[in-house]
Amino acid sequence: MADNNNSLPEHIGIIMDGNGRWAAKRGLPRSLGHSAGMKRMIGLAKKAKEAGVHYLTVYALSTENFSRPQEELDGLYALIKKYFKGQAAKLIKSGAAVKIIGDLSLLPPDVAQIIQKGAEKSPADAEFTFIIALGYGARSEIVRAANLAKDKEGALTEGDFASLLYTGGVPDPDLIIRTGGEVRLSNFLLWQAAYAELYFTDTLFPDFTDKKFEKALNEYSSRARRFGGV
Ligand code: IPE
Ligand code: IPE
Ligand code: MG
Repeated sequence: MADNNNSLPEHIGIIMDGNGRWAAKRGLPRSLGHSAGMKRMIGLAKKAKEAGVHYLTVYALSTENFSRPQEELDGLYALIKKYFKGQAAKLIKSGAAVKIIGDLSLLPPDVAQIIQKGAEKSPADAEFTFIIALGYGARSEIVRAANLAKDKEGALTEGDFASLLYTGGVPDPDLIIRTGGEVRLSNFLLWQAAYAELYFTDTLFPDFTDKKFEKALNEYSSRARRFGGV
């Protein structure tokens, strides 16, 4: 058996699912589930930074989510604008970097602008990078990289190809957590997740406390990662 030397993941991905059901359970509109989820997301970013994790990638809006009712999307955009201005700036002030992955041209221009401006001020040498996947889909990311690869000469290595993804320069996720009870990846980091440890929990995202996050970290540390070896 491989050594259990994977004490702390360097990079964690979170599929933040279950906001709508969290609200429905309380007889609240879905929008309140999203605002509770956004609050939790910021809490987890702080927690991950404190714990010494180097990268936290959160799945906030998928390319498929654009098929949701316009009213729900408008609510999400309003929340993103509100949170991004204040919280991204705060995180950056605390020494963290904020990076966006996804196709910002799919978002309303004012939302895209606020996000871009917010992330721009990130330090280059941060110990902790908070990566927000917005308008993100792994398949479109891979197709985009394949199109970029056309301009390169000669055969590409896996490393060359990975550098053309939105996550170029970021190590692959060691652990991917999905809240909300579904057991699927829903088009999240398909290339990068090749050897990630997967952790699924029924807990709805707004209820995914720091303590529950710690439980996931503990479970991760007990997994034997073999990467095809023995
Ligand atoms: C995840 O929560 C957040 C986004 C996709 C924006 P959902 O909105 O999917 O919540 P459920 O799955 O309907 O409960
Ligand atoms: C995945 O949640 C996307 C995000 C968390 C942003 P969904 O609620 O969109 O996933 P499906 O539709 O259940 O697969
Ligand atoms: Mg969902």
